[in-house]
Amino acid sequence: MSPEVAKTVAMLTLDQKLSLLSGADDWHTTEIPEVGLPPVELGDGPHGLRTETGVDMVWIPSTCFPTASALGATWDPELVRRVGLALGEEARALGVDLLLGPGVNMKRTPLCGRNFEYFGEDPVLAGDLAAAYVQGLQSTGVGACLKHFAANNQETLRTEISVEADERTLREIYLEAFRRVISAADPWAVMCSYNRIGGVHASQHRWLLTEVLRQDWGYPGLVVSDWDAVHDPVAAVAAGLDLEMPGTGGRSVAALRRGLEDGTLSEAALDQAAIRVIEFVRRCRPDGRPAHSPVREAGIVPGAPLNRAQLAELGADEHHELAREVATAAITLLRNEDDLLPLDPDGAQRIAVVGGYARVPRIQGGGSAGVDPTRVDDPLVCLRDLAGDRIAYAQGYPVPETDFYRDLVPDPSDPAQLREDAVRLAAESDLVLAFVGLPLSSEVEAADRSTLALPEDQVRLLAALADTGKPLVVVLSAGSAVTMDGWHDRAGAILLTWLGGQGVGSATAAVLFGRADPSGRLGETYPLSLEDTPGYRDFPGVDGRVSYDEGVFIGYRWYDQHDLPVRYPFGHGLSYTSFGYADAEVVTSSPDHVEVRVRVTNTGVRPGAEVVQVYVEPPHLAERPVRELRAFAKLWLNPGESRMARFTLHHRDFALADTTGRAWHQEQGSYRIVFASSSRVPRATVNVVRPDATQPFSR
Ligand code: GLC
Repeated sequence: MSPEVAKTVAMLTLDQKLSLLSGADDWHTTEIPEVGLPPVELGDGPHGLRTETGVDMVWIPSTCFPTASALGATWDPELVRRVGLALGEEARALGVDLLLGPGVNMKRTPLCGRNFEYFGEDPVLAGDLAAAYVQGLQSTGVGACLKHFAANNQETLRTEISVEADERTLREIYLEAFRRVISAADPWAVMCSYNRIGGVHASQHRWLLTEVLRQDWGYPGLVVSDWDAVHDPVAAVAAGLDLEMPGTGGRSVAALRRGLEDGTLSEAALDQAAIRVIEFVRRCRPDGRPAHSPVREAGIVPGAPLNRAQLAELGADEHHELAREVATAAITLLRNEDDLLPLDPDGAQRIAVVGGYARVPRIQGGGSAGVDPTRVDDPLVCLRDLAGDRIAYAQGYPVPETDFYRDLVPDPSDPAQLREDAVRLAAESDLVLAFVGLPLSSEVEAADRSTLALPEDQVRLLAALADTGKPLVVVLSAGSAVTMDGWHDRAGAILLTWLGGQGVGSATAAVLFGRADPSGRLGETYPLSLEDTPGYRDFPGVDGRVSYDEGVFIGYRWYDQHDLPVRYPFGHGLSYTSFGYADAEVVTSSPDHVEVRVRVTNTGVRPGAEVVQVYVEPPHLAERPVRELRAFAKLWLNPGESRMARFTLHHRDFALADTTGRAWHQEQGSYRIVFASSSRVPRATVNVVRPDATQPFSR
């Protein structure tokens, strides 16, 4: 604790200290001007500012960036860092001091309604990208709030469900991304989750909030609750929670005061929490003054667009270009039979664009992560900009007029008629671009999906379009995996655009017509069926408990462990060019690290990007995943260009969580280090022998 903070604490009355531990309202900490503590504003969300206007569900327009599952598909920390920085700039322009993101929960089951908000099924991918995001964001003087700590992997009964997982599973999988981000980027806050773990709510879970976060990892920052996640303020503060949000109008302060009086809350615990809140406020507001917002001070009319000066304050034009760039880098080419793509922008093909999402693109999910975008690129307009009047359009299936759920008005159109019109257009065309995807209702906070399939209208449409015999390109919008029965084999190409933010329309057109290389890679496995997925047997749980019996075997770890075929593996993504791997070698191997490298060459005729993925295959003494991602790098290469990719692996990359010994245990033996294009496409391998070694559970 700094001398200034110590001085501030000493000046506070008991009531003032207590007031710091609960919000002043929905979005602010309590101010104490007498000691120079201004209010701090907290604001959603992870891929764009959601700043309320006072009118229900009407927010101040901000840039809607690709959601986290799309950021995960970029495999590009530097690009994600730039997103963090842009978000920080917009937060400052709006007077927000702490941005409530990123979310780094693991995608245990594709059914989770909030998967679009998470980076993927692997803690190294999520942790390293989220660390870059936090570094970029905090470089602007706005804090990041890492969430939701921990094991918030479903929305069903989210505030009551108890996650039953053993400590090794928690440490190796569900806590690991948090550990990596805290170690690399020191987020100013961590948000506890709604759910229980082992029967105890995360908001009052001492093992989670104190033993792991403080004692093992040495985390110095603030622990804030998810909104209304506190059930017992005394138990929460005693367990290590510092700030309850939102404010409870004095109820929690009264409960805390009673806790002090009856001895269930110690003065030391109260002081510790108050100190962390003071340190947090000073970090956010070093000048001791409330934030000001040039955008809001220029006047906000709820529901109206911002004026040019306000948009300039936001950096709206530059950030829209960044949103386009990120959406392009996330787009993942899953299938491309006979090089059907890219299309020729100068060709004569008559192209039928089918699907309402070609007019109203799926750019985001619903809930607290919602953003009112400053603008949205219309995919059909962008396609016509590149290919002119060769492009004809048919809606194909009913779709609401907007993907912004505030205005969701069901489309009364007759699906059969829409399908018939689309088939007729396809029959008159040379090629079909079908825009399909998950509706907003399937990707929203507080609800999970019940199926992995696309809506029936879309599945029937795809089959009918395929029946025309015209080449079929499927453009798929989804924040989490879908199954493809009934249409996959009949599609010549499948392009996954994720929930790609406000610039996804132009990004999609650029990739389809070869103006950009598809460089995205899957951050999650696309399974063949729901029944194959790891959480299937016990999702969403029974009697308020969900058992993570699969243990550490989630995502590709599960499918590899059970040697299950998948539709597309973790890390998969095609390019318009090709890459060769050579000269793989172990450069150094010492007790505390191993340095490896491999040469990658663009062996095709177009520029493109290869994501070199490094998996470690351990000796199977204990029961361990077949392979685990331990490092990655995205290399942009021109035709014929070669580059050496170098990676340094550390103890943790070879170790498992030994919860008996309370240490990361590296078993003695030979480890295969695999350089790969996906979790199931090895390209080069080296071997290294590692000694038996342990390191304590610490960051
Ligand atoms: C929500 C979400 C959390 C969000 C918070 C504030 O319920 O779980 O991610 O930041 O409340 O809206």
